[in-house]
Amino acid sequence: MSRLVIVSNRLPLGDNPSGGLVVALKDALRSSGGLWVGFSGEPVEEPAGQLVFHPGASFERASFDLTARDHEEYYLGYSNSILWPVCHGRSDLMRIERDFLDGYRRVNAQIARLLAPHLREDDRIWVQDYHLFPLAAELRRLGVENPIGHFLHIPFPDFASCSAMPNPEEMFEWLSHYDLLGFQAHRDLSNFADAAGHLSQIEPLGDNHYRLLGRMLRAGVFPIGIDTASFIEEARHSPAEDRLRSLTGSELIIGVDRLDYSKGIPNRFRAFQALLENNPDLHEGISFLQIAPPTREAVEAYRDIREETEHLAGRINGQFATVNWTPIRYIHRALPRAVLAGLYRQARIGLVTPLADGMNLVAKEYVAAQDVSDPGVLILSRFAGAAETMEEALIINPHDTWELAEAMAKAIRMTANERRRRHSALLQGVIENDVGWWSSSYLDVLG
Ligand code: ADP
Ligand code: F6P
Repeated sequence: MSRLVIVSNRLPLGDNPSGGLVVALKDALRSSGGLWVGFSGEPVEEPAGQLVFHPGASFERASFDLTARDHEEYYLGYSNSILWPVCHGRSDLMRIERDFLDGYRRVNAQIARLLAPHLREDDRIWVQDYHLFPLAAELRRLGVENPIGHFLHIPFPDFASCSAMPNPEEMFEWLSHYDLLGFQAHRDLSNFADAAGHLSQIEPLGDNHYRLLGRMLRAGVFPIGIDTASFIEEARHSPAEDRLRSLTGSELIIGVDRLDYSKGIPNRFRAFQALLENNPDLHEGISFLQIAPPTREAVEAYRDIREETEHLAGRINGQFATVNWTPIRYIHRALPRAVLAGLYRQARIGLVTPLADGMNLVAKEYVAAQDVSDPGVLILSRFAGAAETMEEALIINPHDTWELAEAMAKAIRMTANERRRRHSALLQGVIENDVGWWSSSYLDVLG
């Protein structure tokens, strides 16, 4: 079997990952073997000028360095101050600086130069996410003819959002050099085809084949999953469960997200506030645990969301807390996966309320972690890619505070029978479409 080479911005080098991409791919590569190439993690003054290899038990890792300027322009700048807000429907949060685009092109060209000499003739190259759109074009420029696929973990923007970018036409040029484009949800594939129709030259040829700017490619929907079997085990044996039960003595609502403005954390705090205002009988009987580790704090929009979140939590606690009860507990750091799994299992409600999200793996982790005989209820935003396949969740509009508060009340009062019926259908999907299924269905098409 040919070797799989994965390229992504983030490379797991023994850290405690709290991003969907790292969590998913680590599991995929562990089973297939191969090479994973990514950023070494901290900007340096003098880049090594070559890939640095890190031996590993089940797959090889190789890192590239970035200078502080590269990091600022390519990662914080073009990737996370232009592409991220555009793809998440928040063009108003974009910060356009001319250097960002130059830095993004430069870093992608640099990664291609470092990687090309290490490629073997029969490697399949799988590029991950929005940081690396131009990588295939740069590798092709260097004569690489291997199959190259791209998978986008975040939403593909619609035509109007694409038009807000400084260079929307160029994005389609970059994408045209891939053999396979993978998306999380049907909405993304249809946004891609529609926006390319307006901003580029695309010809649908049927059966998910397209001619984009004269080049043939395939595009498809491959909803990402989790390593369900191991997560179920993790939750069953978690140390967190009993400890937490004795701490709270009340029903638990849980939210787990990077502190990102796309995750709708303030919206869910407001809905929790409305729930408490409308249901005094729930006071002291329910508490909300929000675990939200820091992310991309050098970008202003992330500092703002942190302030807003902390301010709201303080206000709501001030309004309702008693000497025996803190309605919202907020943890601003990453937790070990085993602890997280136990907390999910303990929670009567899993709140996943993004305003836009590629898939949202937390929704799947929450379902996998439940006790099948007494499962909790997943409340899921219709704007998460996961909503396309997790129909038995309580699907809500996260902008509508009242709808969300009512869904929480409904979940708290839901009969055990209904909870089991919904959960069993959800769990079946999470088991069938796990991360192994995701990567093999993508690689079958790329291969
Ligand atoms: P994103 O990729 O945008 O961060 P996802 O929901 O798809 O969103 O993936 C988030 C991943 O990060 C999940 O696997 C989740 O368990 C993990 N994660 C999120 N918050 C924490 C945390 N506080 N501690 C540990 N892991 C976390
Ligand atoms: O899943 C989307 C994503 O942007 C991944 O590409 C990334 O690893 C994760 O979220 C966390 O973001 P970051 O790598 O910027 O911390």
